[in-house]
Order: sequence, then C-alpha cells, then structure tokens
Amino acid sequence: MTDLSQLEADLSAQIAAAGDLSALEAVRVAALGKTGSVSALLKTLGAMSPDERKERGPQINGLRDRATALIAERKAALEAAALDAQLAAERLDLTLPAPPRRKGGVHPTMQVMDEMVAIFAEMGFSVAEGPDIEDDFHNFTALNFPPKHPAREMHDTFFFHPGEDGERKLLRTHTSPVQVRTMQRTNTPPPAPWIAGGQEPPIRVIVPGRTYRKDSDQTHTPMFHQVEGLVIDKGVHMGHLKWTLETFIARFFETDSVVTRFRPHHFPFTEPSAEMDVGCDRSGGELRIGQGSDWLEILGCGMVHPNVLRACGVDPDVYQGFAFGMGVDRLAMLKYGMPDLRDLFAGDGRWLSHYGFSAFADPNPASGLS
Ligand code: DAH
Repeated sequence: MTDLSQLEADLSAQIAAAGDLSALEAVRVAALGKTGSVSALLKTLGAMSPDERKERGPQINGLRDRATALIAERKAALEAAALDAQLAAERLDLTLPAPPRRKGGVHPTMQVMDEMVAIFAEMGFSVAEGPDIEDDFHNFTALNFPPKHPAREMHDTFFFHPGEDGERKLLRTHTSPVQVRTMQRTNTPPPAPWIAGGQEPPIRVIVPGRTYRKDSDQTHTPMFHQVEGLVIDKGVHMGHLKWTLETFIARFFETDSVVTRFRPHHFPFTEPSAEMDVGCDRSGGELRIGQGSDWLEILGCGMVHPNVLRACGVDPDVYQGFAFGMGVDRLAMLKYGMPDLRDLFAGDGRWLSHYGFSAFADPNPASGLS
C-alpha cells in the first residue's frame, strides 16, 4: 500500500470512529488544518518537479477532496444522531393523564337556595328578585311598619347617608320588600326593571336573596340570605299556608318524619302571624331534625295584612294571601350539619371544598336525578 492510500485508510477509520462532533473536528484539524497531515502533503507539491507534481498533485488533491467529503458526511450523520437523541430526551408523553386540578364547587348557601327554588317551582311558584339597596317605603312603610315604630329599630338597619332629596336609602333588612315590588301596580313609582311590571293576582312567587343587618355573633352575620314566599289569590287561607310549608319542609329535609308546629307571633305585615318550628333532638350536643322532643324555629309566616295589600294597590276585600320568610344559611347548616354559621362566609377554600357541591348535580331532591 502506498503512503497515500495508507493515510487515506487511516483517515477513513478515524472519521468513522469519531463518536461525536468534537472528536470529528479533532480528526479534521489533524488532517486538513493548517498543520494537518494532508495539508503538509499539499505543501510538498510546490517543491516538486513539474512531472512529479503532475502525478502526485491529483493524488493528494483527490485524497483531500475525499477526506473533506467523508468528514462532511460523518458530520451530517453525527448531527442527525444528536438531534434524534435530543428529540428522544425531550419527548412529551401526551398520553399521560393531566395532573389533577382543583375544581370549583357550589357554595352550600347557593346550593340550598337552588334546592328551595326547585321545590317551590314544582309547586307552581316563580322566582322574583329585587334590589339589595332599598328605600324606606318598600322595606318598612308599605309593609305596615308604622313611622317611628320600634320594629324598625329591631332590624338594626344599615342606612346610607341621606341623598340630595333627604331620602335615606338602606340595605334591605329582609326579602319582604320584594312582596311589595311584586304586587305594586298603580299607586307607586314605575315598577323596577327586575320585575316584569306589577303582577295581577294570582301571584305565587318566591324570592331568594341577600339581606343585611348590623349583627355579628356565632349565629348572626351582617349579610345573610333569605327566601321569601308570597301567594295572593281569592279565597286563600291559613290551611294553604300550612300545607305549602309542611310540604316544603318534608321535601327539603327529604323525610316525612319531620314534625312542625305553628306558634302565634307578631310581624307588622301579616295578620295573623306565626313562627314555624320543626321537631328536633338536641341531646349529645348535636342537632338532629326529624326526631326528639325539642323545637327549633325556622321561619316566620302569616296572612298578608290588609294594609300591605292596600299599600300595593290590591283590594283586600277581593284578594287574600299568605307570606313566609326563612333564613337560608341556617337551613343550610341544619341540612348539611355545619356547626358554625360564620364558616359559610369565611371563604376558606378547604371548608368550601369539603362542604361545596358539584355544579352539575340536580338541585331538586324530589326529581330523583341526583
Ligand atoms: N321578614 C321577616 C324577617 O326577616 C320574615 C318574615 C316573617 C317574612 C313573616 C314573611 C312573613 O313574609 O310573612 O324577620
């Protein structure tokens, strides 16, 4: 084998053996760099005789060209392998299940409000709403609270500063003003946009909403929730009221074993008025509905006072009605066994994920779909 073919065989072997780009670069520099073995051969051409150069020139140049091509080929192969290795290392496995995400849930108060709406909707009630910021007329006067009557003070009202006209707006202390907004037709300012015009009886509405009183302790929060009910028709009496509320309670607590009683009470806007209690058991520091011999007050109710009907432009000699109002937060606590009312408003994510409900559950326990 000639020197050149020996060198070429060595170079080919080294190029093939170069395991990565830097090893290949070292082989290239050693052969084709300024002081490389092939470059050194090329330099000898200048000192040769023309005949000798004619013979050796093409051989040495050919060696250089083949070595250069081999190196380029090897480089491309090494680069492709490096890319493959990188792609394999950085591969994303899209078949892996995504890491679990925290799911939002329905707040127990909203869940219970939805349940109440669903139960009353089945009984033929529709939903009415009114503003949180009320005026004295709707919150008190039209509901037969006499001016300066102490009952106004009972409600620990949050008042706004008087407006330019001297009127003091307030945060509604109960959902009862929506009774007025639902009934009022002729003798009061234009019906608000959230009511589709004052309604001609028969009226059957429930009013879920936020209410406010200056009150804060273990069983009271300054903002809380009520559901109000109002039925106005001809020939309505206490029997209808009792049936409606007893039916509601049985469906709400999902048992027929709940006993109820109506206790005489006083509200300015109903006559007669009553509070409804449910039978419960308080032994062992826990409260259980549907058993035991204790009573727990859960709502106020009564026959709508003729003065209220009159204030709303409804003739009490033609129409009668009943109304009721209950605290949603407290009913939520009772139904789902939550010990402290304030937890409902604390916004603690851990509490909410424990007591919260799926947004996709059917709120109507009677429908059998849940
Ligand atoms: N508005 C009353 C309250 O917040 C609850 C109430 C009692 C509502 C009797 C009524 C009712 O509609 O008839 O204390």
